Amino acid sequence: MLLIFIASALTFSAAEFSVFVPNGSVSERLGSSAVLPCGLSPALNAKMFDVRWHKNDYNNPVLLYKDLKVQENTGDPQYRGRASLIGELEKGNVSLKLENLTLTDRGEYVCFVQSVTWYEKASVNLIVRALGSSPLFSLAEVGDQVNVSCASGGWSPKPTLTWRDKRGRELTTSHIHYKTDPEGLVSVSSWLLFSPSESEWISCSVGLSDQEMIDSRVLPVKGFWREAFISILVFSLIIIVILTALLLKRQGFLPHCSFQKNAKATVNLCESVPAEALPLTGTSKISEENGDSVKEKIASDSGPHTGVSSQSSVSAKERLLVWNKLKKQKVKLIVDPGTCHRPLTVTQDGTGVYCGQVNTSNSADTFPHVLSKEGFSSEQKYWEVTVDLKTKCKLSWCVGVTQKPPTKETLTALYYEERCGIYPSTDPHIQIPAEDHVTTLGLILDFKHKTLSFINVDKQSHLHTFRMNNMSNNKYFALMSPGIKDCYPVSFHN
Ligand SMILES: *[C@@H]1O[C@H](CO)[C@@H](O)[C@H](O)[C@H]1NC(C)=O
Ligand SMILES: *[C@@H]1O[C@H](CO)[C@@H](O)[C@H](O)[C@H]1NC(C)=O
Ligand SMILES: *[C@@H]1O[C@H](CO)[C@@H](O)[C@H](O)[C@H]1NC(C)=O
Ligand SMILES: *[C@@H]1O[C@H](CO)[C@@H](O)[C@H](O)[C@H]1NC(C)=O
Repeated sequence: MLLIFIASALTFSAAEFSVFVPNGSVSERLGSSAVLPCGLSPALNAKMFDVRWHKNDYNNPVLLYKDLKVQENTGDPQYRGRASLIGELEKGNVSLKLENLTLTDRGEYVCFVQSVTWYEKASVNLIVRALGSSPLFSLAEVGDQVNVSCASGGWSPKPTLTWRDKRGRELTTSHIHYKTDPEGLVSVSSWLLFSPSESEWISCSVGLSDQEMIDSRVLPVKGFWREAFISILVFSLIIIVILTALLLKRQGFLPHCSFQKNAKATVNLCESVPAEALPLTGTSKISEENGDSVKEKIASDSGPHTGVSSQSSVSAKERLLVWNKLKKQKVKLIVDPGTCHRPLTVTQDGTGVYCGQVNTSNSADTFPHVLSKEGFSSEQKYWEVTVDLKTKCKLSWCVGVTQKPPTKETLTALYYEERCGIYPSTDPHIQIPAEDHVTTLGLILDFKHKTLSFINVDKQSHLHTFRMNNMSNNKYFALMSPGIKDCYPVSFHN
Protein backbone atom coordinates (compact mmCIF):
# COMPACT_ATOMS: atom_id res chain seq x y z
CA MET A 1 0.00 0.00 0.00
CA LEU A 2 2.72 2.43 1.02
CA LEU A 3 4.75 1.43 -2.01
CA ILE A 4 1.89 2.18 -4.35
CA PHE A 5 1.45 5.58 -2.73
CA ILE A 6 5.14 6.41 -3.11
CA ALA A 7 5.16 5.20 -6.67
CA SER A 8 2.18 7.32 -7.64
CA ALA A 9 3.63 10.37 -5.87
CA LEU A 10 6.82 9.89 -7.83
CA THR A 11 5.08 9.62 -11.18
CA PHE A 12 3.08 12.74 -10.35
CA SER A 13 6.08 14.86 -9.51
CA ALA A 14 8.16 13.42 -12.28
CA ALA A 15 5.75 14.73 -14.88
CA GLU A 16 7.84 15.94 -17.76
CA PHE A 17 7.16 19.05 -19.77
CA SER A 18 8.85 21.11 -22.38
CA VAL A 19 9.07 24.87 -22.61
CA PHE A 20 8.27 26.55 -25.89
CA VAL A 21 8.39 30.06 -27.27
CA PRO A 22 5.98 30.65 -30.18
CA ASN A 23 8.26 33.27 -31.71
CA GLY A 24 12.00 33.27 -31.24
CA SER A 25 12.16 37.01 -31.58
CA VAL A 26 10.04 39.91 -30.39
CA SER A 27 10.45 43.46 -31.69
CA GLU A 28 9.03 46.51 -29.92
CA ARG A 29 9.56 50.25 -29.89
CA LEU A 30 11.80 52.03 -27.46
CA GLY A 31 9.69 53.16 -24.47
CA SER A 32 6.81 50.80 -25.19
CA SER A 33 6.26 47.43 -23.54
CA ALA A 34 6.98 43.93 -24.79
CA VAL A 35 5.52 40.52 -24.06
CA LEU A 36 8.07 37.71 -24.29
CA PRO A 37 5.83 34.69 -24.83
CA CYS A 38 6.72 31.39 -23.21
CA GLY A 39 4.56 28.39 -22.37
CA LEU A 40 4.63 24.82 -21.07
CA SER A 41 3.75 21.83 -23.18
CA PRO A 42 1.66 20.06 -22.12
CA ALA A 43 -0.10 23.05 -20.54
CA LEU A 44 0.56 22.03 -16.93
CA ASN A 45 -0.37 24.24 -14.03
CA ALA A 46 2.84 26.16 -13.32
CA LYS A 47 1.72 27.66 -10.01
CA MET A 48 3.83 25.20 -8.01
CA PHE A 49 6.87 25.55 -10.27
CA ASP A 50 9.73 28.00 -10.22
CA VAL A 51 9.84 30.38 -13.16
CA ARG A 52 13.06 32.26 -13.75
CA TRP A 53 13.54 34.77 -16.57
CA HIS A 54 17.14 35.80 -16.97
CA LYS A 55 19.50 37.30 -19.52
CA ASN A 56 23.18 36.40 -19.42
CA ASP A 57 23.35 36.00 -15.68
CA TYR A 58 21.32 33.11 -14.21
CA ASN A 59 21.92 34.41 -10.68
CA ASN A 60 20.76 37.92 -11.42
CA PRO A 61 17.35 37.26 -12.95
CA VAL A 62 15.00 39.69 -14.62
CA LEU A 63 12.17 38.02 -12.72
CA LEU A 64 11.96 35.10 -10.31
CA TYR A 65 8.71 33.33 -9.38
CA LYS A 66 9.21 30.92 -6.48
CA ASP A 67 7.23 29.70 -3.51
CA LEU A 68 3.97 30.68 -5.20
CA LYS A 69 4.88 34.31 -5.71
CA VAL A 70 7.09 36.68 -7.65
CA GLN A 71 10.14 37.38 -5.50
CA GLU A 72 10.36 41.14 -5.08
CA ASN A 73 13.72 42.78 -4.51
CA THR A 74 15.73 40.01 -6.01
CA GLY A 75 17.59 40.00 -9.25
CA ASP A 76 18.68 42.77 -11.55
CA PRO A 77 17.65 46.18 -10.15
CA GLN A 78 17.31 47.65 -13.62
CA TYR A 79 14.18 45.54 -14.18
CA ARG A 80 12.56 46.24 -10.83
CA GLY A 81 8.97 47.37 -11.22
CA ARG A 82 9.10 46.85 -15.00
CA ALA A 83 8.89 43.06 -15.27
CA SER A 84 5.82 40.95 -14.56
CA LEU A 85 4.28 37.60 -15.45
CA ILE A 86 1.35 38.30 -17.73
CA GLY A 87 -0.06 34.90 -18.69
CA GLU A 88 -2.22 32.42 -16.79
CA LEU A 89 0.19 30.26 -14.81
CA GLU A 90 -2.56 27.67 -14.31
CA LYS A 91 -2.57 27.08 -18.05
CA GLY A 92 1.18 26.86 -18.30
CA ASN A 93 1.63 30.38 -19.66
CA VAL A 94 4.74 31.91 -18.11
CA SER A 95 5.09 34.87 -20.52
CA LEU A 96 7.04 37.89 -19.32
CA LYS A 97 5.95 41.49 -19.76
CA LEU A 98 8.58 44.21 -19.79
CA GLU A 99 7.50 47.84 -19.62
CA ASN A 100 9.22 51.09 -20.56
CA LEU A 101 11.74 49.39 -22.81
CA THR A 102 15.23 50.84 -22.91
CA LEU A 103 18.01 50.13 -25.37
CA THR A 104 19.87 48.03 -22.80
CA ASP A 105 16.86 45.68 -22.68
CA ARG A 106 17.88 44.34 -26.07
CA GLY A 107 19.13 40.79 -26.17
CA GLU A 108 18.42 37.17 -25.46
CA TYR A 109 16.08 36.24 -22.59
CA VAL A 110 15.94 32.73 -21.15
CA CYS A 111 12.65 31.36 -19.85
CA PHE A 112 13.63 28.74 -17.29
CA VAL A 113 10.91 26.60 -15.64
CA GLN A 114 11.64 24.11 -12.88
CA SER A 115 9.49 21.59 -11.03
CA VAL A 116 10.67 19.37 -8.19
CA THR A 117 12.11 16.84 -10.57
CA TRP A 118 12.35 18.48 -13.95
CA TYR A 119 13.47 21.65 -15.65
CA GLU A 120 13.36 23.04 -19.14
CA LYS A 121 14.27 26.31 -20.80
CA ALA A 122 13.89 28.22 -24.04
CA SER A 123 15.06 31.62 -25.19
CA VAL A 124 13.52 34.67 -26.86
CA ASN A 125 15.40 37.52 -28.51
CA LEU A 126 14.13 41.02 -27.79
CA ILE A 127 14.74 43.72 -30.38
CA VAL A 128 14.13 47.31 -29.29
CA ARG A 129 13.41 49.62 -32.20
CA ALA A 130 14.22 53.31 -32.20
CA LEU A 131 13.24 55.58 -35.08
CA GLY A 132 15.91 58.01 -36.13
CA SER A 133 15.84 61.50 -37.52
CA SER A 134 14.74 62.61 -40.98
CA PRO A 135 17.56 62.22 -43.45
CA LEU A 136 19.45 65.44 -44.07
CA PHE A 137 21.12 66.22 -47.36
CA SER A 138 24.19 68.10 -48.33
CA LEU A 139 25.15 68.89 -51.89
CA ALA A 140 28.41 69.76 -53.59
CA GLU A 141 29.08 70.23 -57.27
CA VAL A 142 31.71 67.96 -58.73
CA GLY A 143 32.21 68.91 -62.36
CA ASP A 144 29.00 68.16 -64.25
CA GLN A 145 27.68 66.10 -61.41
CA VAL A 146 26.36 66.75 -57.96
CA ASN A 147 27.72 64.95 -54.91
CA VAL A 148 24.63 64.32 -52.82
CA SER A 149 25.07 63.03 -49.30
CA CYS A 150 22.37 61.87 -46.97
CA ALA A 151 22.69 61.28 -43.22
CA SER A 152 20.37 60.18 -40.45
CA GLY A 153 21.02 59.19 -36.84
CA GLY A 154 19.32 57.74 -33.79
CA TRP A 155 18.31 54.31 -35.10
CA SER A 156 18.10 50.89 -33.51
CA PRO A 157 18.72 48.29 -34.77
CA LYS A 158 20.84 49.06 -37.83
CA PRO A 159 18.65 50.76 -40.46
CA THR A 160 18.75 50.37 -44.22
CA LEU A 161 19.45 53.29 -46.52
CA THR A 162 18.13 53.34 -50.07
CA TRP A 163 18.56 55.87 -52.84
CA ARG A 164 15.88 56.03 -55.51
CA ASP A 165 15.31 58.14 -58.57
CA LYS A 166 12.10 59.81 -59.64
CA ARG A 167 10.74 56.58 -61.13
CA GLY A 168 11.37 54.65 -57.95
CA ARG A 169 14.37 52.77 -59.34
CA GLU A 170 17.02 51.98 -56.82
CA LEU A 171 20.33 53.78 -57.29
CA THR A 172 23.30 51.82 -56.07
CA THR A 173 26.16 53.28 -54.14
CA SER A 174 29.03 51.58 -52.40
CA HIS A 175 29.43 54.47 -50.00
CA ILE A 176 27.30 53.64 -46.99
CA HIS A 177 28.76 54.11 -43.52
CA TYR A 178 27.35 53.11 -40.18
CA LYS A 179 28.40 54.41 -36.79
CA THR A 180 27.18 53.24 -33.39
CA ASP A 181 27.23 55.74 -30.56
CA PRO A 182 27.98 54.77 -26.93
CA GLU A 183 24.25 54.49 -26.19
CA GLY A 184 23.89 51.90 -28.92
CA LEU A 185 22.04 54.07 -31.44
CA VAL A 186 23.13 53.75 -35.03
CA SER A 187 23.67 56.56 -37.51
CA VAL A 188 24.00 56.04 -41.23
CA SER A 189 25.39 58.23 -43.99
CA SER A 190 25.85 57.76 -47.68
CA TRP A 191 26.78 59.75 -50.75
CA LEU A 192 26.56 59.34 -54.49
CA LEU A 193 27.41 61.25 -57.60
CA PHE A 194 24.37 62.18 -59.55
CA SER A 195 23.82 63.72 -62.94
CA PRO A 196 20.91 66.12 -62.75
CA SER A 197 19.88 65.16 -66.28
CA GLU A 198 19.08 61.60 -65.14
CA SER A 199 16.20 62.41 -62.84
CA GLU A 200 14.45 65.49 -61.61
CA TRP A 201 14.90 64.51 -58.02
CA ILE A 202 16.22 61.65 -55.98
CA SER A 203 15.15 60.33 -52.65
CA CYS A 204 17.01 58.87 -49.73
CA SER A 205 15.01 56.53 -47.47
CA VAL A 206 16.26 55.37 -44.12
CA GLY A 207 14.27 52.90 -42.10
CA LEU A 208 13.79 49.62 -40.32
CA SER A 209 11.00 48.23 -42.50
CA ASP A 210 8.52 49.45 -45.07
CA GLN A 211 6.32 50.60 -42.28
CA GLU A 212 8.96 52.53 -40.40
CA MET A 213 10.82 54.47 -42.97
CA ILE A 214 11.66 58.13 -43.31
CA ASP A 215 12.03 59.34 -46.82
CA SER A 216 13.56 62.64 -47.94
CA ARG A 217 13.87 63.97 -51.42
CA VAL A 218 16.23 66.42 -52.94
CA LEU A 219 16.26 68.14 -56.31
CA PRO A 220 19.91 68.40 -57.21
CA VAL A 221 19.21 70.23 -60.42
CA LYS A 222 21.84 72.58 -61.74
CA GLY A 223 21.23 75.63 -63.84
CA PHE A 224 18.59 78.10 -62.78
CA TRP A 225 17.79 76.15 -59.68
CA ARG A 226 21.28 76.53 -58.34
CA GLU A 227 20.74 79.53 -56.12
CA ALA A 228 17.83 77.84 -54.53
CA PHE A 229 20.00 74.92 -53.55
CA ILE A 230 22.90 76.75 -52.11
CA SER A 231 21.41 76.32 -48.71
CA ILE A 232 20.99 72.63 -48.95
CA LEU A 233 18.23 71.71 -46.60
CA VAL A 234 15.72 74.17 -47.88
CA PHE A 235 13.51 72.86 -50.62
CA SER A 236 14.01 69.22 -49.96
CA LEU A 237 10.73 67.58 -49.48
CA ILE A 238 10.12 65.12 -46.83
CA ILE A 239 7.78 62.22 -46.75
CA ILE A 240 7.08 60.78 -43.42
CA VAL A 241 6.14 57.17 -43.58
CA ILE A 242 6.34 56.43 -39.90
CA LEU A 243 3.12 54.85 -38.83
CA THR A 244 0.87 57.85 -38.69
CA ALA A 245 -1.29 56.33 -36.03
CA LEU A 246 1.57 55.68 -33.66
CA LEU A 247 2.82 59.20 -33.85
CA LEU A 248 -0.57 60.76 -33.57
CA LYS A 249 -1.23 58.65 -30.52
CA ARG A 250 1.91 59.97 -28.93
CA GLN A 251 1.29 63.56 -29.82
CA GLY A 252 -2.45 63.75 -29.32
CA PHE A 253 -5.14 64.17 -31.92
CA LEU A 254 -4.36 67.70 -32.94
CA PRO A 255 -0.74 68.25 -32.18
CA HIS A 256 0.99 71.51 -31.47
CA CYS A 257 4.29 72.43 -32.86
CA SER A 258 7.27 72.83 -30.63
CA PHE A 259 7.82 76.46 -29.95
CA GLN A 260 11.56 76.30 -29.57
CA LYS A 261 11.85 76.58 -33.35
CA ASN A 262 13.49 79.76 -34.51
CA ALA A 263 10.49 81.94 -34.08
CA LYS A 264 10.44 84.90 -36.38
CA ALA A 265 8.54 87.93 -35.21
CA THR A 266 6.45 88.98 -38.16
CA VAL A 267 4.78 92.34 -38.36
CA ASN A 268 1.10 91.66 -38.26
CA LEU A 269 -0.43 93.90 -40.87
CA CYS A 270 -3.92 92.76 -40.02
CA GLU A 271 -4.01 93.60 -36.36
CA SER A 272 -5.97 96.80 -36.67
CA VAL A 273 -8.65 95.46 -39.04
CA PRO A 274 -12.00 95.28 -37.22
CA ALA A 275 -13.81 91.96 -37.44
CA GLU A 276 -16.74 93.48 -39.37
CA ALA A 277 -14.47 94.61 -42.18
CA LEU A 278 -13.03 91.18 -42.83
CA PRO A 279 -12.93 90.19 -46.48
CA LEU A 280 -14.96 87.07 -45.91
CA THR A 281 -16.10 86.80 -49.48
CA GLY A 282 -13.19 88.49 -51.16
CA THR A 283 -10.75 85.62 -51.11
CA SER A 284 -11.44 84.40 -54.63
CA LYS A 285 -10.35 87.71 -56.12
CA ILE A 286 -7.07 87.64 -54.29
CA SER A 287 -6.51 84.10 -55.36
CA GLU A 288 -7.14 85.03 -58.97
CA GLU A 289 -4.22 87.39 -58.73
CA ASN A 290 -2.13 84.54 -57.47
CA GLY A 291 -3.13 82.46 -60.42
CA ASP A 292 -1.88 85.16 -62.78
CA SER A 293 1.40 85.53 -61.01
CA VAL A 294 1.89 81.79 -61.25
CA LYS A 295 1.52 81.95 -65.01
CA GLU A 296 3.91 84.85 -65.19
CA LYS A 297 6.41 82.90 -63.18
CA ILE A 298 6.27 79.95 -65.54
CA ALA A 299 6.74 82.25 -68.47
CA SER A 300 9.76 83.91 -66.92
CA ASP A 301 11.18 80.56 -65.85
CA SER A 302 11.15 79.04 -69.29
CA GLY A 303 12.04 82.28 -71.03
CA PRO A 304 15.41 83.69 -70.02
CA HIS A 305 16.75 80.36 -68.87
CA THR A 306 16.46 78.37 -72.07
CA GLY A 307 20.03 79.20 -72.89
CA VAL A 308 21.41 78.15 -69.53
CA SER A 309 20.59 74.49 -69.53
CA SER A 310 18.19 72.55 -71.69
CA GLN A 311 17.34 70.39 -68.71
CA SER A 312 15.99 73.38 -66.83
CA SER A 313 13.62 74.49 -69.53
CA VAL A 314 12.37 70.98 -70.19
CA SER A 315 11.51 70.48 -66.58
CA ALA A 316 9.81 73.87 -66.49
CA LYS A 317 7.70 72.89 -69.51
CA GLU A 318 6.99 69.55 -67.96
CA ARG A 319 5.86 71.25 -64.83
CA LEU A 320 3.60 73.51 -66.83
CA LEU A 321 1.99 70.51 -68.52
CA VAL A 322 1.45 68.71 -65.24
CA TRP A 323 0.15 71.89 -63.76
CA ASN A 324 -2.37 72.53 -66.53
CA LYS A 325 -3.57 68.95 -66.26
CA LEU A 326 -4.07 69.30 -62.54
CA LYS A 327 -5.91 72.59 -62.95
CA LYS A 328 -8.33 70.89 -65.35
CA GLN A 329 -8.99 68.13 -62.83
CA LYS A 330 -9.73 70.56 -60.05
CA VAL A 331 -12.88 69.69 -58.13
CA LYS A 332 -15.24 72.29 -56.69
CA LEU A 333 -15.99 71.87 -53.01
CA ILE A 334 -18.36 73.41 -50.53
CA VAL A 335 -18.43 73.20 -46.76
CA ASP A 336 -20.77 70.74 -45.11
CA PRO A 337 -22.56 73.06 -42.65
CA GLY A 338 -23.46 70.04 -40.52
CA THR A 339 -19.80 69.67 -39.60
CA CYS A 340 -19.45 73.32 -38.55
CA HIS A 341 -19.60 73.98 -34.82
CA ARG A 342 -18.86 76.95 -32.59
CA PRO A 343 -16.68 78.98 -32.69
CA LEU A 344 -16.68 78.50 -36.47
CA THR A 345 -19.02 80.15 -38.97
CA VAL A 346 -19.50 79.28 -42.65
CA THR A 347 -18.87 82.14 -45.07
CA GLN A 348 -21.74 83.53 -47.15
CA ASP A 349 -20.85 81.67 -50.32
CA GLY A 350 -20.56 78.37 -48.48
CA THR A 351 -16.98 77.61 -49.53
CA GLY A 352 -15.15 78.90 -46.47
CA VAL A 353 -15.17 79.05 -42.73
CA TYR A 354 -13.86 81.49 -40.13
CA CYS A 355 -13.57 81.70 -36.40
CA GLY A 356 -16.29 83.97 -35.05
CA GLN A 357 -14.85 84.19 -31.57
CA VAL A 358 -11.14 84.70 -31.43
CA ASN A 359 -9.64 83.04 -28.40
CA THR A 360 -5.99 83.44 -27.70
CA SER A 361 -6.08 81.69 -24.34
CA ASN A 362 -5.27 78.00 -24.13
CA SER A 363 -8.14 75.99 -25.42
CA ALA A 364 -8.62 72.25 -25.75
CA ASP A 365 -9.11 72.42 -29.50
CA THR A 366 -7.11 75.11 -31.22
CA PHE A 367 -7.98 73.71 -34.64
CA PRO A 368 -11.76 73.27 -34.80
CA HIS A 369 -12.49 72.11 -38.33
CA VAL A 370 -15.14 71.60 -40.97
CA LEU A 371 -15.38 68.96 -43.70
CA SER A 372 -16.36 69.19 -47.34
CA LYS A 373 -19.79 68.06 -48.43
CA GLU A 374 -18.19 65.92 -51.13
CA GLY A 375 -16.28 62.78 -50.23
CA PHE A 376 -13.76 60.83 -52.30
CA SER A 377 -12.95 57.15 -52.48
CA SER A 378 -11.22 56.52 -55.80
CA GLU A 379 -8.86 57.81 -58.46
CA GLN A 380 -6.95 61.05 -58.06
CA LYS A 381 -8.59 64.21 -56.80
CA TYR A 382 -7.22 67.71 -56.84
CA TRP A 383 -8.58 70.74 -55.03
CA GLU A 384 -7.33 74.02 -53.68
CA VAL A 385 -7.69 75.80 -50.39
CA THR A 386 -6.97 79.47 -49.79
CA VAL A 387 -5.38 79.73 -46.37
CA ASP A 388 -4.19 83.30 -46.25
CA LEU A 389 -4.01 86.65 -47.95
CA LYS A 390 -0.88 88.16 -49.38
CA THR A 391 -0.72 90.44 -46.38
CA LYS A 392 -0.06 87.48 -44.06
CA CYS A 393 -3.07 87.81 -41.87
CA LYS A 394 -3.51 84.26 -40.66
CA LEU A 395 -1.84 83.16 -37.48
CA SER A 396 -2.79 79.51 -37.84
CA TRP A 397 -4.58 77.06 -40.11
CA CYS A 398 -4.91 73.36 -40.79
CA VAL A 399 -5.72 71.70 -44.13
CA GLY A 400 -5.96 68.03 -45.03
CA VAL A 401 -8.26 65.04 -45.27
CA THR A 402 -10.04 62.75 -42.87
CA GLN A 403 -12.82 60.20 -42.76
CA LYS A 404 -16.20 60.51 -41.10
CA PRO A 405 -16.23 60.70 -38.18
CA PRO A 406 -12.73 62.15 -37.98
CA THR A 407 -10.29 59.99 -36.04
CA LYS A 408 -6.63 60.40 -35.28
CA GLU A 409 -5.87 57.44 -37.53
CA THR A 410 -7.45 58.95 -40.61
CA LEU A 411 -6.57 62.61 -40.12
CA THR A 412 -3.74 63.60 -42.43
CA ALA A 413 -3.03 67.30 -42.63
CA LEU A 414 -0.60 70.18 -42.66
CA TYR A 415 -0.72 72.69 -39.84
CA TYR A 416 0.52 76.22 -39.76
CA GLU A 417 1.23 78.24 -36.67
CA GLU A 418 2.84 81.62 -36.94
CA ARG A 419 5.69 80.87 -34.58
CA CYS A 420 6.50 77.45 -36.01
CA GLY A 421 5.77 77.52 -39.69
CA ILE A 422 4.19 74.57 -41.50
CA TYR A 423 4.38 71.10 -40.01
CA PRO A 424 2.77 67.70 -40.76
CA SER A 425 0.17 66.06 -38.54
CA THR A 426 2.47 63.06 -38.30
CA ASP A 427 5.22 64.97 -36.55
CA PRO A 428 4.83 68.48 -35.14
CA HIS A 429 8.57 68.71 -34.64
CA ILE A 430 9.33 68.74 -38.33
CA GLN A 431 9.12 72.06 -40.04
CA ILE A 432 8.31 71.93 -43.72
CA PRO A 433 10.44 74.36 -45.61
CA ALA A 434 8.30 76.65 -47.73
CA GLU A 435 10.15 79.00 -50.03
CA ASP A 436 7.77 81.78 -49.32
CA HIS A 437 4.55 82.80 -47.70
CA VAL A 438 1.81 80.36 -48.72
CA THR A 439 -1.61 81.74 -49.61
CA THR A 440 -3.16 78.87 -51.57
CA LEU A 441 -2.58 75.17 -51.15
CA GLY A 442 -3.24 72.52 -53.79
CA LEU A 443 -4.05 69.03 -52.54
CA ILE A 444 -3.70 65.85 -54.61
CA LEU A 445 -5.36 62.86 -53.01
CA ASP A 446 -4.24 59.79 -54.91
CA PHE A 447 -6.00 56.54 -54.08
CA LYS A 448 -3.88 54.49 -56.44
CA HIS A 449 -0.56 55.46 -54.91
CA LYS A 450 -2.07 56.04 -51.48
CA THR A 451 -0.61 59.49 -51.12
CA LEU A 452 -1.75 62.97 -50.19
CA SER A 453 0.44 65.70 -51.68
CA PHE A 454 0.46 69.40 -50.92
CA ILE A 455 1.47 72.03 -53.43
CA ASN A 456 2.19 75.68 -52.84
CA VAL A 457 -0.02 76.99 -55.65
CA ASP A 458 1.51 80.47 -55.58
CA LYS A 459 4.95 79.07 -56.35
CA GLN A 460 3.86 75.82 -57.97
CA SER A 461 6.25 74.06 -55.71
CA HIS A 462 5.77 70.81 -53.91
CA LEU A 463 5.45 71.15 -50.15
CA HIS A 464 4.90 67.73 -48.70
CA THR A 465 3.64 64.23 -49.48
CA PHE A 466 2.10 61.90 -46.97
CA ARG A 467 2.12 58.19 -47.65
CA MET A 468 -1.18 56.80 -46.37
CA ASN A 469 -0.38 53.15 -45.89
CA ASN A 470 -3.56 52.44 -43.97
CA MET A 471 -5.85 54.05 -46.53
CA SER A 472 -9.20 52.29 -46.51
CA ASN A 473 -12.04 52.23 -49.01
CA ASN A 474 -14.20 54.50 -46.93
CA LYS A 475 -14.71 58.02 -48.20
CA TYR A 476 -12.23 60.74 -47.41
CA PHE A 477 -13.41 64.32 -46.93
CA ALA A 478 -11.47 67.52 -47.34
CA LEU A 479 -10.81 69.08 -43.94
CA MET A 480 -9.90 72.63 -43.07
CA SER A 481 -9.55 74.72 -39.95
CA PRO A 482 -9.06 78.49 -39.68
CA GLY A 483 -7.56 78.10 -36.19
CA ILE A 484 -8.86 80.20 -33.33
CA LYS A 485 -6.22 82.88 -33.22
CA ASP A 486 -7.73 85.24 -35.80
CA CYS A 487 -11.01 85.63 -37.64
CA TYR A 488 -9.77 85.40 -41.21
CA PRO A 489 -11.33 82.61 -43.25
CA VAL A 490 -9.88 79.60 -44.94
CA SER A 491 -11.87 78.55 -48.00
CA PHE A 492 -12.04 76.16 -50.91
CA HIS A 493 -10.68 77.96 -53.95
CA ASN A 494 -13.02 76.69 -56.65
C1 LIG B 1 5.64 35.28 -35.13
O1 LIG B 1 6.55 35.50 -36.19
C2 LIG B 1 5.97 35.40 -37.47
C3 LIG B 1 7.04 35.62 -38.48
O2 LIG B 1 8.23 35.07 -38.07
C4 LIG B 1 4.84 36.42 -37.61
O3 LIG B 1 4.20 36.26 -38.85
C5 LIG B 1 3.83 36.25 -36.49
O4 LIG B 1 2.88 37.31 -36.55
C6 LIG B 1 4.51 36.29 -35.16
N1 LIG B 1 3.53 36.01 -34.13
C7 LIG B 1 3.42 36.76 -33.05
C8 LIG B 1 2.38 36.33 -32.09
O5 LIG B 1 4.12 37.74 -32.84
C1 LIG C 1 7.00 53.95 -17.39
O1 LIG C 1 7.32 55.31 -17.66
C2 LIG C 1 6.27 56.21 -17.37
C3 LIG C 1 6.67 57.59 -17.80
O2 LIG C 1 8.04 57.73 -17.91
C4 LIG C 1 5.96 56.16 -15.86
O3 LIG C 1 4.89 57.02 -15.56
C5 LIG C 1 5.59 54.73 -15.49
O4 LIG C 1 5.40 54.65 -14.09
C6 LIG C 1 6.68 53.77 -15.92
N1 LIG C 1 6.21 52.41 -15.67
C7 LIG C 1 6.96 51.51 -15.07
C8 LIG C 1 6.32 50.19 -14.88
O5 LIG C 1 8.10 51.75 -14.72
C1 LIG D 1 0.31 33.91 -22.72
O1 LIG D 1 -0.51 35.02 -22.39
C2 LIG D 1 -0.12 36.21 -23.02
C3 LIG D 1 -0.95 37.35 -22.46
O2 LIG D 1 -2.28 36.98 -22.30
C4 LIG D 1 -0.27 36.07 -24.53
O3 LIG D 1 0.11 37.25 -25.17
C5 LIG D 1 0.62 34.92 -24.98
O4 LIG D 1 0.43 34.69 -26.36
C6 LIG D 1 0.35 33.66 -24.21
N1 LIG D 1 1.45 32.76 -24.57
C7 LIG D 1 1.32 31.45 -24.63
C8 LIG D 1 2.55 30.70 -24.99
O5 LIG D 1 0.27 30.91 -24.40
C1 LIG E 1 31.07 63.47 -51.61
O1 LIG E 1 30.80 64.03 -50.32
C2 LIG E 1 31.23 63.23 -49.23
C3 LIG E 1 30.89 63.97 -47.94
O2 LIG E 1 29.70 64.61 -47.97
C4 LIG E 1 32.73 62.97 -49.30
O3 LIG E 1 33.11 62.11 -48.24
C5 LIG E 1 33.04 62.32 -50.63
O4 LIG E 1 34.44 62.15 -50.73
C6 LIG E 1 32.55 63.18 -51.76
N1 LIG E 1 32.81 62.49 -53.03
C7 LIG E 1 33.36 63.07 -54.08
C8 LIG E 1 33.63 62.21 -55.27
O5 LIG E 1 33.65 64.24 -54.06
